[in-house]
Amino acid sequence: MNVARRKFDTLIIGAGGAGLRAALQLARAEASVAVVSKVFPTRSHTVAAQGGVNAALADPAADNWHFHMFDTVKGGDYLGDQDAVEYMCRAAPRVVYELEHMGVPFSRLDDGCIYRRPFGGQSLDYGGDQATRTCAAADRTGHAILHALYQQNIAARTHFFDEFFALDLILDDGGYVLGALVLEIETGLPLVIEAKATLLATGGAGQLFHTSTNALINTGDGMAMALRAGIPLQDMEFFQFHPTGIAGKGMLITEGARGEGGYLVNGEGERFMERYAPHAKDLASRDVVSRAIATEVREGRGCGPRKDHVLLKLEHLGAEVISKRLPGIRDTIRTFLGIDPIEAPVPVSPTAHYTMGGIPGNRYGQVVVPEREGAEEPIPGFYAAGECACVSVHGANRLGGNSLLDILVFGRAAGNHITAYLKETRYHRPLERAAVEPALARLARWERDGDGESVDTLRAELQRVMEDYCGVFRTEEVLAEGVRKVAAIEARLRDARLRDHSRVFNTARIEALELENLVEVALATVTAALARRESRGAHSRIDYPQRDDVHWLRHSLYYRDGRRLDYKPVRIKPITVEGFPPKERVY
Ligand code: FUM
Repeated sequence: MNVARRKFDTLIIGAGGAGLRAALQLARAEASVAVVSKVFPTRSHTVAAQGGVNAALADPAADNWHFHMFDTVKGGDYLGDQDAVEYMCRAAPRVVYELEHMGVPFSRLDDGCIYRRPFGGQSLDYGGDQATRTCAAADRTGHAILHALYQQNIAARTHFFDEFFALDLILDDGGYVLGALVLEIETGLPLVIEAKATLLATGGAGQLFHTSTNALINTGDGMAMALRAGIPLQDMEFFQFHPTGIAGKGMLITEGARGEGGYLVNGEGERFMERYAPHAKDLASRDVVSRAIATEVREGRGCGPRKDHVLLKLEHLGAEVISKRLPGIRDTIRTFLGIDPIEAPVPVSPTAHYTMGGIPGNRYGQVVVPEREGAEEPIPGFYAAGECACVSVHGANRLGGNSLLDILVFGRAAGNHITAYLKETRYHRPLERAAVEPALARLARWERDGDGESVDTLRAELQRVMEDYCGVFRTEEVLAEGVRKVAAIEARLRDARLRDHSRVFNTARIEALELENLVEVALATVTAALARRESRGAHSRIDYPQRDDVHWLRHSLYYRDGRRLDYKPVRIKPITVEGFPPKERVY
C-alpha cells in the first residue's frame, strides 16, 4: 500500500488541554505544529472537567504555593517527585492568569477576582484550616478552558487533523521517534506524519473500568503506543476512584458539590465522613473518601434497595447556589436520574476517574527511560504531557483540581522545551518505509476474516474484570486472578474479528484498535497492582494495609516485553526548598 506522508516540525497526538496548551506555545513561537485528534478537538475529555483548577492566587486569601505543594505531596502519599510538584505549584497562578487573558470566563468574587472554591485535601499552613484554591468557571471549568485554548490555536494557525486515529509511533533503528502512522477515520486511509519532535497528550484510560466518569475516547492510546515502542509505564497500579460518580451509571458529580457545602450520608442518615476524617470530613482527599464510602457499603450501611451506594446531600445549599455554582451537575442529575438536587439527595458511589500512572516524564515534558545506576535519560525529541504522562506530580493519589493544572503547566513546559529543541534540530531524520511496517501490520491484522469473538464482547468483559479484580480494595488472591483473566482476554483478542471491513467511517475498526490499547494498559495496571505489597494512596491492599516506605517508597516501571516490572527511586528533593519527608497521613 502506498501511504501518503506529511511533514511538520512537531506532531502532537491528542487535542485535550495538554496537547492544545503545548501546541499554542509552539504555534506562537512559529513552529509548524500538527495536532492529531480522534475526535473534534473541543470534544476531548478536558471538556468534562467540572470543578476547577488549583492555584494559590495571592488575593485575597492568605494562601501560597508552598501550602499547595505540601497538600499535593501529602495527597499523593509521598510518592510524587517533589521537584516536579514544586514546579507545578509555583507555576499555577501564572497559567491561570494566562487563561484569564485568553478569555476563559472564570466565575467571579464580588471584588472581581477569580472565584475559588474549597476542594478535597486542601489546607492552609501545612495541614491547618481548609484552603480555598480551586479556580472555577461554575462547574464547567474544563469546557471553558478547552474552548479558549482551541480558539487561541486557531488564531495561532495550528494545523489540526480532526478525526484521525493515531495507530503507532514510528521509530528508527536507534530508537528515535520519527512521527506516527495515523488513520483518517472518514476515509479509512493511513497517513504518515513525520516530525522532528513528537508529543503524546492522549489522556487517560478510564475506559478500563465498567463504571467510569471518563468519556468513551479514554482508551489509553498513547500509553499503549509507548509500551509497543519499548517504553515502560510508571506507577500504573495507582488508579483513582472519584467518590461521587452517579451510582451505577458513573457520570461525574464534581467534588465542587462538596466544596460548596454538600455532604455525604449513609443508609442510617449518618454523616459518616466524620468518623474517617474528623478534621477535613467530606473534603478529605479522594482516596480517603472513596474508601470510606466503599467501607460503609461493605459493612451494610449503604442506601437503596441493594444498599450499594450513599447519598450526596445538596438540598440545603438552596436553589440560588445550586443554579449559580453547580448548574451543570444539576442538569446531569435531572437528565440521568430524573430528580432535582435542589429537592432530593443524589445516589453516588466511587467511580473510576483518573490514571495516576503513565509514560515516565520529567518536568520539561521529556519522556525519560532508566539508565544504569538509577540515572534517567530523556529520549531526544519525544515528549508526553497530561494524563497519559507520569511526571510524577500526583504520586499515589491526585488531588481534585490538580489535573487541569497538570495539563496546563506541563503542556506549556513541553511546548517551551520543544521550541528550544527545534532550534538545534534543523532537519528531520530519514524515515525508511520499513519503519512504518509494524504499524501497518497492526492495521492489516483486522482485515482477516473468520468467526472469532466480537470486540464488544471482549471490551465488556475486560471492563467487568478490571472493576471486580482491580477496584478500590485489593488482595493478592483477587489481583492474581485479575492478571490471569486479563491475560486470557488478551489471548482471545488475537483471534477476534471485525464483521464490517468497510473503510469509510468504520468506527468498529477504531474500537478494535482502542481495545488493543486498553488491554495493554489493563495488563500494566493489574500486574503492577499485584506486585505492590503495601497500601499507599489509591492502591489499597486489604492484605497489606500499611504504607511501607522502607520497601515501597519507589516508582514502579512496567515493561510490555515479558510483562516485567522494575523500580526507580522517588525524588524527594524539590528544586529550591526543603523536601517534605514522608509522615503519617491523616485528614
Ligand atoms: O470533581 C471534579 O470536579 C473533578 C475534578 C478533578 O478531577 O480534578
